Amino acid sequence: MLDLEFVRGQFPAFAEPSLEGWAFFENAGGSYTCQPVIDRLTRFYHQRKVQPYAPFPASEAAGAEMDEARMRLAALLGVETEELSFGPSTTQNTYVLAQAFRKFMQPGEAIVVTNQDHEANSGPWRRLAEEGIEIREWKIDPETGHLDPAALEKLLDEKVRLVCFPHCSNVVGEINPVAEITALAHAAGAFACVDGVSFAPHGFPDVGELGCDIYLFSAYKTFGPHQGIMVMRRALAEALPNQAHFFNGDTLYKKFTPAGPDHAQVAACAGMVDYVEALAAHQGVAPGAVAGLMHAHEVQLMQPLLDFLGSRNSVRLLGPKSAENRAPTVAVALQGPAEPVARRLANHKVMAGGSNFYAVRPLQAMGIDPDDGVLRLSFTHYTSPEEVDQLIAALDREL
Ligand SMILES: Cc1ncc(COP(=O)(O)O)c(C=O)c1O
Repeated sequence: MLDLEFVRGQFPAFAEPSLEGWAFFENAGGSYTCQPVIDRLTRFYHQRKVQPYAPFPASEAAGAEMDEARMRLAALLGVETEELSFGPSTTQNTYVLAQAFRKFMQPGEAIVVTNQDHEANSGPWRRLAEEGIEIREWKIDPETGHLDPAALEKLLDEKVRLVCFPHCSNVVGEINPVAEITALAHAAGAFACVDGVSFAPHGFPDVGELGCDIYLFSAYKTFGPHQGIMVMRRALAEALPNQAHFFNGDTLYKKFTPAGPDHAQVAACAGMVDYVEALAAHQGVAPGAVAGLMHAHEVQLMQPLLDFLGSRNSVRLLGPKSAENRAPTVAVALQGPAEPVARRLANHKVMAGGSNFYAVRPLQAMGIDPDDGVLRLSFTHYTSPEEVDQLIAALDREL
């Protein structure tokens, strides 16, 4: 069982007087930051804030810490160090990737996109239609938001080069079977690109085991600084055209990140691994087992919330009603705009959001006006049962 006291002790936000009493339920927007990340950022700015990789000690320490972050994160994710890169955000990373595919693909070839994705893993790919690339949409069930792998099979043929889909949608919350979907894509001769932004905060996955060719997530939602993290497996990375300076094209981790990186934040990403390892050591498990502990805790807290929302006739719960195959990103459509309700929850010291959360396509597909948006209640493994009680009590008053 997850030791919640230990977990919360790793997040200064829980000891911050100005946040005392506030229950945080907008974690899918961005999580609290863990202490090791803050410590590394502070140390970097105090001791190492110079151009890295130059031959003097402060610079060597800066470069070494950036390398350490890449190496340890790659190991945690089950991929090679060279296969992991940092970019300003996931949106920026997919944009650059789409430019690479723009050159790599021929007119008449096809890409599969979903209408379950956040726009970041959808719009940049759809724009390749301007180049004569055929865009095929893998559609969700309009009632539940579910993405059915059997429906994907019907879209696949020898023209498809790439299948883009989310590990988990930021409004539906259902966890998609990435390994199974990737196997379908591969069997058809296509690559698989997975948006892991909504999933990764609930346990860093073994990307090597999932088998996908691209896996993206955002460190500011996984207890870290504001960076996008991208895994691209070697075979695809070597095949795609360089998007960086011409002389950097042979270095895989530079090839698809043309922006100059934020050195301090890249280095501080090592703190996310410090956290996972410290938690694993405290719990007496391997770092890879931390995800299971997080999930079990989240499922336990989520089911009462799902049951409460499911029992309310005035709201429409999106995604599965059972917590087991879900991330704790729980969105409900109301009978009007969601933002004012989120605002009223703040009167109960509940932090939540009401918006379309850039999931405009999924909301439209489910018949929800993106201008009304949804009320989203999202938490992570550091959330306590008392905070869920506080949320449910507030919802009971305001819904
Ligand atoms: C599922 C999902 N994908 C992609 C993104 C975009 O990530 P970033 O803000 O790093 O561009 C978000 C951001 O909210 C998201 O929720």
